[in-house]
Amino acid sequence: MRAGIPKILVTGGAGFIGSAFVRLAARCGYRMIICDKLTYAGDLSRLKEAAGSYKFYRADICNPLTIGRIIKKEIPDGIINFAAETHVDRSIAGCAPFLKTNILGTQVLLDLSKKFKIKRFVQLSTDEVYGEIKNGQFTENSELKPNSPYAASKASADLLIRAYIRTYGFPGIIVRPCNNYGPWQYPEKLIPLGIACAIKGRKIPVYGRGINTREWLYVDDCARGILEVFRKGKPGEAYNLGSAEEKINLEVVRGILGLTGNDQRMFEFVKDRPGHDIRYKLDSEKLRRLTGWKPEINFTRGLKLTVEWNLRNQRWLLRKHHAEK
Ligand SMILES: NC(=O)c1ccc[n+]([C@@H]2O[C@H](COP(=O)([O-])OP(=O)(O)OC[C@H]3O[C@@H](n4cnc5c(N)ncnc54)[C@H](O)[C@@H]3O)[C@@H](O)[C@H]2O)c1
Repeated sequence: MRAGIPKILVTGGAGFIGSAFVRLAARCGYRMIICDKLTYAGDLSRLKEAAGSYKFYRADICNPLTIGRIIKKEIPDGIINFAAETHVDRSIAGCAPFLKTNILGTQVLLDLSKKFKIKRFVQLSTDEVYGEIKNGQFTENSELKPNSPYAASKASADLLIRAYIRTYGFPGIIVRPCNNYGPWQYPEKLIPLGIACAIKGRKIPVYGRGINTREWLYVDDCARGILEVFRKGKPGEAYNLGSAEEKINLEVVRGILGLTGNDQRMFEFVKDRPGHDIRYKLDSEKLRRLTGWKPEINFTRGLKLTVEWNLRNQRWLLRKHHAEK
């Protein structure tokens, strides 16, 4: 390790946001150890750009022996936990893997961090832990009222970290981003799924009446926010990480249809997701005040970049889309 530059253990670094973080941190000169189980959602091709800046271990965060051996050997200065099962619909179909990785996997990392006296632990949480909000916005002090099994598993991990902070003085920091989008996102999520359908000339499925509202954050902006939290966040605190740009799903889909040159009618309403939260919205002032972070890429530009990336990387996108069938 170069003097003064921390070595970070990044779990889930082959995933969508984890890999964006690794690419950014590599450009900033960080050295990283990546532990990723490489589930259907993990893909090493996302990391090509960061080659030389990280060492990769195919490892399950639920396995204390393997992860313990890696930490003992590598002695990281900090851990950032991106590893998770992340798709709400999959959690509705069956939540066992969500509880295992998102709760018990986090517990394994917390216990090992405690054992090896890791100085900084950043947990990737989500805006979904707060449940839905029809008006106004969530602050870090809002109650956790998760509505999907996925959100419940993430909220459980947050509560466990809170307990470790209180009980052991654990140096945990929680970051709660809003909906991310951008290059390399797996096409089970709305935007890449919509682009894959648009490329194939199929109608884009839209839940319910398409009026669910999300706050959208370009993944590179999210990665910058997480690095700021890692650098400047106060142990024991939670930070919301939102763009303040809200869109209803139908607006997102119409944007995709326009950018791919498709007819605006190429979507279809499908049966709504059970328990579908109507709206999430974060108050991110705490993080913005502490770090000066703000998003650099607005939704109009970010969606254009994302569509262009997916058109250039159609083979990757359609291979993943096909695997979904
Ligand atoms: N994508 C979003 O919009 C969003 C928004 C807010 C918060 N988050 C959170 O950010 C984090 C990253 O999300 P993402 O969208 O990049 O997820 P992703 O599904 O794209 O990637 C998850 C990664 O974790 C790995 N993984 C899964 N189980 C593992 C295990 N047991 N051990 C080791 N690795 C494992 C997968 O192989 C994959 O590489 C998650 O914690 C998620 O809850 C995501």
